[in-house]
Amino acid sequence: MKVSISINGENVSRDVEPRQLLVHYIRETPGLTGTHWGCDTSNCGACVVLMDGKPVKSCTILAVMSEGHEIATVESLEVDGELDPIQAGFHEQHALHCGFCTPGMMMTARALLDENPDPTDHEIRTAISGGICRCTGYKNIVAAVRWAADHQAAAKQEA
Ligand code: FES
Ligand code: FES
Repeated sequence: MKVSISINGENVSRDVEPRQLLVHYIRETPGLTGTHWGCDTSNCGACVVLMDGKPVKSCTILAVMSEGHEIATVESLEVDGELDPIQAGFHEQHALHCGFCTPGMMMTARALLDENPDPTDHEIRTAISGGICRCTGYKNIVAAVRWAADHQAAAKQEA
């Protein structure tokens, strides 16, 4: 069946099996392999993308269910060579080692700051609690999101 989905502002169309998961559609159709596929059982959070601005685990959603929705992947964060504050925060605070969890963590964090621009550390930890990171111990991820929140607020004040 033909499935058309808006991904990062571009309409993508392809014939797929009705059972195809959104994570595979994203990785195979436009070739956006920044969205990682880890557990396939809704546990790891590596596959998180935004659907209409809300974080979702794309291994729990069929591609066909995404028709008519706006999907944003980690590739949408950088615009015209400019890093999103979340990406800059991960860089500044050394919030990744192997990087496998990173796309999901970043998209989760982006959604958090869109909804709550000044979260507490507890709110950050709660937001990312659906993702598993085997490397960092989470401390630096929390620091990266805090960094992004602070720099985002400062940039808005300057504008
Ligand atoms: Fe989706 Fe692990 S691959 S939660
Ligand atoms: Fe390796 Fe998070 S950086 S799993």
